[in-house]
Amino acid sequence: MRATLVQLDSHFGQPRRNVERALALMQAAAASDLIVLPELFPCGYTFTDPEEVRALAEPANSGPTFEALAAYARTHRVWIAYGFAERAAEGFFNSASVLGPDGLVGTYRKMHLFSRENLFFAPGQTPAPVYDLPIGKLGLMICFDWYFPEVARSLALRGAQVIVHPSNLVLPHCPQAMLTRSLENRVFSLTCDRIGSEHRGGVEHDFIGSSQAVGPRGELLVRLSGDREETATVDLDLAQADNKRLNPHNDLFTARRPELY
Ligand code: ACM
Repeated sequence: MRATLVQLDSHFGQPRRNVERALALMQAAAASDLIVLPELFPCGYTFTDPEEVRALAEPANSGPTFEALAAYARTHRVWIAYGFAERAAEGFFNSASVLGPDGLVGTYRKMHLFSRENLFFAPGQTPAPVYDLPIGKLGLMICFDWYFPEVARSLALRGAQVIVHPSNLVLPHCPQAMLTRSLENRVFSLTCDRIGSEHRGGVEHDFIGSSQAVGPRGELLVRLSGDREETATVDLDLAQADNKRLNPHNDLFTARRPELY
């Protein structure tokens, strides 16, 4: 599978600009099977009022962001994973969708909301999903989910070969931690972060960029800058993630002792 990370600087409250910018970076990158975009990329991150969420959230299967990305996926025969603020009958969610040439595959609602996200979004109530696609088995989680190793573990136990991880990172530890998430689960991981700063209503967020791809032995395949809009394209041999054998005596999954944990 060939995957492209699109690291961009979302401008808060400017979805048309942000989607156009993402499309331009996607267009300029090498042709891929999968494109990953950051968390909340159309709207930005630093909400100060629930009214802003109301104004900027979009349904998972309609709306300008979905329509633009679905058209791109159809035309280029590619799958796209991206984060957005979701408007649903049940409320507003910090969500990520995967869509492909034939439209929406599925949507995950972030279960571990970070800090002030709790003021603006409801937490998801369903497990992080694994999608069995023609390009590979994709597990999907969002940003702060990395802090809870159970999420990556459960994706791997359910067969994910690659963890797709749209993010808006404000803590410095995630890029190094994801080496371990990949190592301990023998899976690839694709963390796609944003860059830039948002100062709104007395709240400041500085995003660390450093989007990266990691291999199933914890090896860093590529890491982007901390401060530039840019893309990285990597070729992943996903079958490497199916072999959980560490040595003749240890299979990473069958050696687990959940009855003792
Ligand atoms: C985060 O979960 N966006 C820090």
